[in-house]
Amino acid sequence: MSSLPMTRDEAWELVRQYNSDPTDLNHYLESEAVMRGLANYLGEDEEYWGMLGLLHDIDWGLTKDDVSSHLTKAPELLQKAGFDQKFIDIVLSHGYGCDCAGLENEVRTEKIQHALAAAETITGLIFAYALMRGGITGMNPKGLKKKFKDKSFAAKVNRDFIRESEKLGLELGEFFAIAIAAIEEIKDQVGLK
Ligand SMILES: [Fe+2]
Repeated sequence: MSSLPMTRDEAWELVRQYNSDPTDLNHYLESEAVMRGLANYLGEDEEYWGMLGLLHDIDWGLTKDDVSSHLTKAPELLQKAGFDQKFIDIVLSHGYGCDCAGLENEVRTEKIQHALAAAETITGLIFAYALMRGGITGMNPKGLKKKFKDKSFAAKVNRDFIRESEKLGLELGEFFAIAIAAIEEIKDQVGLK
């Protein structure tokens, strides 16, 4: 068990101190849910994985006008809130391969890093698909896989990041099923039917 300096509800307060856009907040809740679902499935620490999902974009509200500065403020905010360097490094790892905070050439190597990158990225594809089909209820992994393969659908969603779920020993369809179930469970909180 890794230690966390605050409760889940305190972390949610922290997120909301720096973020107010409802769409962004929904994304954090969905990322949390998928991380918890993954942890549960893999026998990992649900609290810890969920906390990473919830807080991974903590500085987005402060940096989104200049995307290349995303994750430059997160270390300080998280450190001030009591999180250790290990937690902060995992948060930063979801920016590896992206043009932000000088992380473009870094490479994820740990299971928990792959989990965070895949989890936070699949939320975008599921949300777009849910909007298209009028909700998430009854969404199945096969349908989502079709959208995954259709590169023109939600084109900004990075398919390679989603594929990192395979580094967790999961088949894509298995990962999709976990992610859909996790988001379906919180659909009322994120404005989905
Ligand atoms: Fe994110």
